[in-house]
Amino acid sequence: MYHDQRGLVAHAVHSQIDLHQAYGGVVPELASRDHVRRIVPLYRQVLADAGIVAADIDAVAYTAGPGLAGALLVGAAFAESVALALGRPAIPIHHLEGHLLSPLLSADPPAYPFVALLVSGGHTQLMRVSAVGEYEMLGETLDDAAGEAFDKTAKLLGLPYPGGPALAALAQQGTPGRVKLPRPMLNSGDLDFSFSGLKTAVLNAVNKGLDEAGRADLAAEFQEAVVDVLVGKSLAALRQTRLKQLVVAGGVGANRRLRERLDLELAQRKGRVFYPELALCTDNGAMIAFAGAQRLAAGLAHPADAHEIAVRPR
Ligand code: KG4
Ligand code: ZN
Repeated sequence: MYHDQRGLVAHAVHSQIDLHQAYGGVVPELASRDHVRRIVPLYRQVLADAGIVAADIDAVAYTAGPGLAGALLVGAAFAESVALALGRPAIPIHHLEGHLLSPLLSADPPAYPFVALLVSGGHTQLMRVSAVGEYEMLGETLDDAAGEAFDKTAKLLGLPYPGGPALAALAQQGTPGRVKLPRPMLNSGDLDFSFSGLKTAVLNAVNKGLDEAGRADLAAEFQEAVVDVLVGKSLAALRQTRLKQLVVAGGVGANRRLRERLDLELAQRKGRVFYPELALCTDNGAMIAFAGAQRLAAGLAHPADAHEIAVRPR
């Protein structure tokens, strides 16, 4: 829950990791059923934590997509219903806009314009962000997203879901460079990415047989390869746009090695890198509320009487 003077007044996440862990990935039907069960209690909890009543709400923002249709529809139907009942606007938000603006919620936020590196389970993109709603795509992945590559590689190494954090933990016990993996498209001259070949290279290494130390070395090399590419392309995007501020958003932005490397490289270039608070790196409602508040303030929200359930899974 976001207040335009007081900032983030409450936020809560109900994680479904435990629910999906036994299946090694997200089960769409279980996800949407759990949304149905959780959404009203979560809404009540956030209101109570913020110490406000529903009548004080100016607008209700919700994730319109991309995502799983069933889960999106639960949120959209609920948000549109609350807004309708209160006579307030409902604001559909693109999931990535939430991630993109999330570093602005920190105590020391960047100023527009900045370059954003969006690295989640579904997306890998570099954008130029000039203002709320003014985004220019500079480059994106041609196949797997960075988080997806982490998750698939983790699975190949026999690690539990969600793979990214598990793989990062294993990588800490290994040494990069002992096994050699490619840095796909690092020198392609554009700002696009490709991660599917990396996953195949990992599969080949796994098939040759690995002991415990070899697994950790492979994890470390994989992480280093992804980080090399993400860092290289981010720096190229800053050069191309002549900007000095980089914002990193999305779940992979929680990766410690990525942060270390970006901090170092940007400091050497007298630039700065901004991250959302760790709790706001992975999916959360606070960033959606914030994006909604920014749109409302910028006059980009729908009028209060225009209620339609607008979800776009892709
Ligand atoms: O943004 P997010 O929470 O959800 C999506 O919108 O996809 O990102 C989730 C992704 C997953 O692929 C997860 O494995 C990855 O972020 N991730 C990480 C780390 N923490 C989460 N990847 C690498 N290192 C991490 N520490
Ligand atoms: Zn996300």
